[in-house]
Amino acid sequence: MPPFAQAILAWYERNARRLPWRGHPDPYAVWLSEIMLQQTRVETVIPYFHNWLKKFPTLASLAAAPQQAALAAWEGLGYYSRARNFQRAAQIIVSDYAGQIPKTAEELIRLPGIGRYTAAAIASIAFGQDIATLDGNLKRIFARVFDVTDPIDTPAGEKKLWQLAENHLPPGRAGDYNQALMDLGASVCLPRSPLCPQCPLESLCEARAFGLQAERPVRTPKKPVPQKYKLAAVLLSQGKTLLNQRPANGLLGGLWEFPAAEVTSDSAEACAAALQTAYRLKVTPRTRLPAIRHAYSHFTLTETPWRCDLLCLPPDSPLQWIPLADLPAYPMGKVDRAIANQLTAT
Ligand code: ADE
Repeated sequence: MPPFAQAILAWYERNARRLPWRGHPDPYAVWLSEIMLQQTRVETVIPYFHNWLKKFPTLASLAAAPQQAALAAWEGLGYYSRARNFQRAAQIIVSDYAGQIPKTAEELIRLPGIGRYTAAAIASIAFGQDIATLDGNLKRIFARVFDVTDPIDTPAGEKKLWQLAENHLPPGRAGDYNQALMDLGASVCLPRSPLCPQCPLESLCEARAFGLQAERPVRTPKKPVPQKYKLAAVLLSQGKTLLNQRPANGLLGGLWEFPAAEVTSDSAEACAAALQTAYRLKVTPRTRLPAIRHAYSHFTLTETPWRCDLLCLPPDSPLQWIPLADLPAYPMGKVDRAIANQLTAT
């Protein structure tokens, strides 16, 4: 076996993290873990993973569940398209694959929410297929060990890194090889201050030999993150509040929110005008509540809730009056949940 694979597998035997999806007999659980781990840290995922399997213990139970139940079990993890796509993929497997999850990356990648990384991770970990994968942690390791100078977020850089991951794959051990690299990236080959003296690849690492580990991986310079400002109308009547359900797809798709609109100023006038345009809602803004900031992947949002009096709600409005006591059952993003909590706390 080539020294790279040998070193990483030997290290994994002694240092593998015990994670609830490791060695799990059900490929559905492995798949769930890979979807949850796409943009979320292991420690955050673990309780959600257990809770999800309690609510939807099998692929068939997920396929048959209401979308709202799936979104509610995902609430707090963010990137809600992951939950919607996962459930759609489960439904496709029930209808087109007789409920059996396909075993190869070529088939898996055709399902919603499964890209090259996830397809290869599931195929290697759950089904023992000989296929390499590559996520942010693995890119960093290969860029350092092989001193890759192409930026890792360019097609040329990605191509080189995939090639390196494939070239060093030990046949028959792909699942362990991929997960060993994930663990090494999470615990030793850290983005800042890597723990090189503890690394099983130190003697092979070209960046380390040149003292360049802090300069790798190379990335293209980041554009500044745009700031967005929104206001949200809090309208209360007889123990109920007015909510909007977001369109099924896109950011926070299918989740519930306070009627909100993007603004450039958070004055009362701007509030009234924006709600009139966005929802044909006529309101008198009364009180500004504490603003909530949240960082999304492509922008940062500051949202100011305003307690408003309702002057006119068009009869065909899609907005719905929801009892305050029922708000916990309506899946929401972080910002709207914070507003909801402000209301129910007072
Ligand atoms: N990150 C993504 N998938 C993972 C896995 N299977 N083990 C550890 N970290 C991961």
